[in-house]
Amino acid sequence: MNAKIVIKLNIIRNGTTQGSIQGKTMLSRIFLTCLALLSSTTAFAQTLKTDSIYEERKIHDPNGIGKFFKGREIAHVMGYQAAGWLERPEREKEENTSKLIESLKLKPHMIVADVGAGSGYLSFRMAPLLPKGKVLAVDIQKEMIKIINAKSKQKTLQNVETILSTEKDPKLPENSVDMIIMVDVYHEFAFPFEMTRAMCKSLRKGGTMVFVEFRGEDPEVPIKLVHKMAEKQVILEMKGHDLKHKETIGVLPWQHIIIFEKTDSQPTDTK
Ligand SMILES: C[S@@+](CC[C@H](N)C(=O)[O-])C[C@H]1O[C@@H](n2cnc3c(N)ncnc32)[C@H](O)[C@@H]1O
Repeated sequence: MNAKIVIKLNIIRNGTTQGSIQGKTMLSRIFLTCLALLSSTTAFAQTLKTDSIYEERKIHDPNGIGKFFKGREIAHVMGYQAAGWLERPEREKEENTSKLIESLKLKPHMIVADVGAGSGYLSFRMAPLLPKGKVLAVDIQKEMIKIINAKSKQKTLQNVETILSTEKDPKLPENSVDMIIMVDVYHEFAFPFEMTRAMCKSLRKGGTMVFVEFRGEDPEVPIKLVHKMAEKQVILEMKGHDLKHKETIGVLPWQHIIIFEKTDSQPTDTK
């Protein structure tokens, strides 16, 4: 099957300083938009017929791709040209990424997959906490993978490995990952069902899948609608996968940390 990947070279979001969360200054970040189309001929081996689980709509949010899963519009992929935005100095203050990493309770031996790693902002912050383990930094854009590989060369600790994925398959080794983390990523998956199914296969029993998404239910979070996700929606989309909702941590200024644990149950369809 030929699947089109729409790479959004930049994102249009309502940007603010941390202060605006408290009702202070609201800034707008508007980047020039350019679209590139790529083709993927990747076939995804799975027994379930999933063609009908997505819905295409002509009238939709311009920040989305017009494809819907369980009522939610999928967002454009953030292009590699915006890698600098992921590394912005004010990110720590805006997103409290230190608190996020602390909340993950990483252990030294863990194998953590940073799916949709982008420029590796989080991969390289988690890696020093995993001296006996490693980070598998997965991304669909080869340019992002290049950025991560270049950064890796500067590091003493060589425990960030890169994996170039496809839009349906993270290409992770089966039954071997302790934690999968997706920070501001899942809402961009063109095939969320297939990606989740493949990610589940890579998790060890008791392993966790962590979604860090801008809170869709919070109008104060200054991010465009299709780039946000409500907790309820994430839980709905995980139905049918061998996962159970473990907890949702609400310690971050803009995002929630929604954690699922791999179960013994057999995956079913998406209902
Ligand atoms: C908004 S960026 C977030 C990057 C990083 N997680 C961070 O917070 O700094 C989203 C990333 O997800 C990647 N992505 C989107 N769809 C993907 C897929 N199906 N598989 C792997 N990566 C994907 C994009 O290429 C992009 O680098």
